[in-house]
Amino acid sequence: MKLIQVADYEEMSRSAAELVYTELENIRTLGLATGGTPLGFYEALRERVRQEGRSLQHLHTVNLDEYLGLAADHPQSYHYYMNEVLFQHTDIPSPQTHLPAGDAEDPYAEAARYDELVTRLGVDLQLLGVGANGHIGFNEPGSSFHGRTDVVRLAEGTIRANARFFGEGERVPEQAVTMGIGTILESRRILLLASGARKAEAVRALLHGAMSEEMPVTALQTHPDVTVIADEAALSLSR
Ligand code: F6R
Repeated sequence: MKLIQVADYEEMSRSAAELVYTELENIRTLGLATGGTPLGFYEALRERVRQEGRSLQHLHTVNLDEYLGLAADHPQSYHYYMNEVLFQHTDIPSPQTHLPAGDAEDPYAEAARYDELVTRLGVDLQLLGVGANGHIGFNEPGSSFHGRTDVVRLAEGTIRANARFFGEGERVPEQAVTMGIGTILESRRILLLASGARKAEAVRALLHGAMSEEMPVTALQTHPDVTVIADEAALSLSR
């Protein structure tokens, strides 16, 4: 595992964008994450792409997850998020951008379809954030390290953390379709970003802890090509 230590959120975002930008010609399928962590990364990446007038037409993208019950045009859906932060700013052909359909009539069939799609495309580089409880994608503590894309229930703490993106009184989804840990581990390369003291325990477990399904992020210890970019606060328990 390669660790890149940075001072803060801004440096994490810039350094991740630079890493992905310089690798672009070697990436056909890019795995993407949502949430607060990669917002600065997407901003820096789209700015770099714009400045250089770089075409991303060759890229296929697969996102980790989507909330169950949210259609693509729902402002809190990850489809919507990805359009806002990346897709609409680039020339990636929209049929080449993929997320699980949160409003599928049969979410289990959708999860199976998505897993097959991700496997067929083959992810060259997968971007990950991490939950305070160590979740990756929405694979909460207790998830199998061999799990495939599935319908999952979010932990109470995750629902509370996600509530910050929803309006007052708006229902925060309690379920999602997420790539499984087994699916994630098939990516050729993994780039995990972590910023802030809330992530310090998960980062400590990833770098120094024993492998345990109670800390899903520790599954990455088995992967041959993981880069972690973490800031000082996220590394505060790892010294
Ligand atoms: C997002 C995802 C999640 C987040 C995690 C951290 O697609 O799969 O695992 O990366 O919940 O969220 P933030 O970045 O909001 O702290």
